[in-house]
Amino acid sequence: MKLAWVLLPLLLAALAAAVLAWRGRLPGRTVLNAWSSLLLLVYLGATAGLGIFWVANQQLPVFDWHYVFGYATLLLLAVHLTLNLRTLWAHLRRRPAVPPAGAGRRPAAGALALAGLGLAVGGAYWLGLRHGRTELRVGAGAGPGSDLGLALIEAFHAHSSHSRAGVLGRAPATDWGGAPPPFKSLRDRALLALPPSWPRAPGQAPALHAQALATLLWHAAGVTAERGGLQLRAAPSSGALFATELYVAARGIDGVAAGLWHHDVPGGGLRALHTGLPPAVAAAMPDDAAGAIVATAVFRRSAYKYGDRTYRYVLADLGHLLENLRATAAALGIPLRLSSGFDESPLAVALGIDEREEGVLALAWLYEPGTAPQGRIDRPDAAAAARLRAATPAAAAGRGITEAVHRATSLRAVASGETLPPAAPAAATVAPGLLVVPAMALPRPLQAFYDPLPVIAARRSVRRYRSRPLALETVSELLAAMSRPAAWLSGAVRLHLVSHAVQGLAAGAWRYDAAAHVLHASPSAAPAARARTRAAALDQDAAGDAAAVIVIAIDRGAFAADAMGAARGYRHAFLEAGMAGERLYLQAGALGLGVCAIGAFYDDEAAALIGVDPQREWVVHFATLGWPA
Ligand SMILES: Cc1cc2nc3c(=O)[nH]c(=O)nc-3n(C[C@H](O)[C@H](O)[C@H](O)COP(=O)(O)O)c2cc1C
Repeated sequence: MKLAWVLLPLLLAALAAAVLAWRGRLPGRTVLNAWSSLLLLVYLGATAGLGIFWVANQQLPVFDWHYVFGYATLLLLAVHLTLNLRTLWAHLRRRPAVPPAGAGRRPAAGALALAGLGLAVGGAYWLGLRHGRTELRVGAGAGPGSDLGLALIEAFHAHSSHSRAGVLGRAPATDWGGAPPPFKSLRDRALLALPPSWPRAPGQAPALHAQALATLLWHAAGVTAERGGLQLRAAPSSGALFATELYVAARGIDGVAAGLWHHDVPGGGLRALHTGLPPAVAAAMPDDAAGAIVATAVFRRSAYKYGDRTYRYVLADLGHLLENLRATAAALGIPLRLSSGFDESPLAVALGIDEREEGVLALAWLYEPGTAPQGRIDRPDAAAAARLRAATPAAAAGRGITEAVHRATSLRAVASGETLPPAAPAAATVAPGLLVVPAMALPRPLQAFYDPLPVIAARRSVRRYRSRPLALETVSELLAAMSRPAAWLSGAVRLHLVSHAVQGLAAGAWRYDAAAHVLHASPSAAPAARARTRAAALDQDAAGDAAAVIVIAIDRGAFAADAMGAARGYRHAFLEAGMAGERLYLQAGALGLGVCAIGAFYDDEAAALIGVDPQREWVVHFATLGWPA
């Protein structure tokens, strides 16, 4: 399609020449030469204009050695035009190149050409800058009592949405510079080498010790393969950028001294940050917890490539990693709970990180086996919720909307004596539409047990698929696996299935009702599902070639009603969606199927694909599914 647009002027010119030849009025060779040089000029002008537009739009350096041949070509063109424009003009008008008497008084054609070129270049640059300076403005219409956090989230989500039309209208407001190192390694701190990961022998009693911790950390963030110079990790990550960093707070972990540690992946161990638990961390830790894993994101690692969509990616990536942690802990018999209510600010101070560059995003408490129920959600009770309030959202600051949205989803401990403002009215949950669509019951899932550890170790994203269809039983199994265990952080995740080649299921979009384990045909269920999915996923082949694509969305009303506030609810929903996505990777991997998460899509087309109202449900990522080629 794109090629057709590029070739269009050439095709039109060839058509015009053919018509002229047919009518016996084909001009002479010199005039044809003149016309074709004009056509080449249009191509060159368009390429240069687009290049200059993007330099300004994406805030790339105005001078770079990469562009030197481009500059030189433009210069040569300007010189060439200066010398030859009059001849060209004469040929096109079929007049002799010898100027009639008095022509010298007219402005020189060369000067005119140069001025035109300058105008075009300057115009493209100005347009690029104008469209490039996109800023997030929040709060204009937010009156007293309205939820500023939710307003910011809505503005952020809309701003970070992709659409075909938006490509020309937006650019990152923040310059994140070049790619930072892929790992953080605090080489000046003492290293505690961790024992190798622990394939627990059958019958061995579970225990929380250094080797169990090493096993947890390796299955969450360890290097599991090297490809094309990239060190691939246990959990998938958008663009293979791996923004997550893990830290350990140890209080009662055998073989790890009490204190705060950084997980040094290339170093193969833990680097000491603080001897003994810093008071801020000790105060936040439940009495019976033996330790904690703190997850942060180094924003720049993702932002230098993904700009203002970064916060979505770092959350989705982390969700996948948290599911690996959860599944590994469950396999080792180590109770692990995710906290949904914590103040990240003192944690950041204790970890020695600058929150604008590296934000604390999640916190998992670890317990000695038998001391806490496995896998329970650490939902803040009313008392804990009363100790925390939403951090004051701020409009774009130093690090642009990534910093702003991170602040908005953060919580702060209430200072003693501080009174909380009355809670904003919970966002209304939208009543389900009246449309009644027949449900299609799915076969009962087998829920077969598999050991997640070897599956995690072998997991890779699969983008090439065979044309073999999927059995309905398999799809049923996978949808059920994505929906259990019940939500840990957020009940806002919604699953949709776009069937391309599933036996017994019409091609098109389906909404999955996890409670009833049935599918509802979406109003948008349509032919050409493959083409529409591929187009919505920025023309990525994996999306069109897969036998099915699971579209993971979050319900705006549901996350806005989160006990910790609407903005924090958005963070929770993204993390939960990532966890569901990783469950698909793992369960599909155990069945020999391939999956690839897709975070790059046109938001409007994705909503239309699954037939949801974009005001109610926001698509957060796709997961392609099929038999690996
Ligand atoms: C949230 C998320 C979004 C992703 N988006 C895309 C995508 O749009 N296109 C793609 O080809 N891969 C995508 N991936 C897959 C990553 O490229 C992949 O995880 C990474 O290259 C590491 O490779 P591995 O998964 O085989 O370990 C995404 C992964 C995640 C977790």
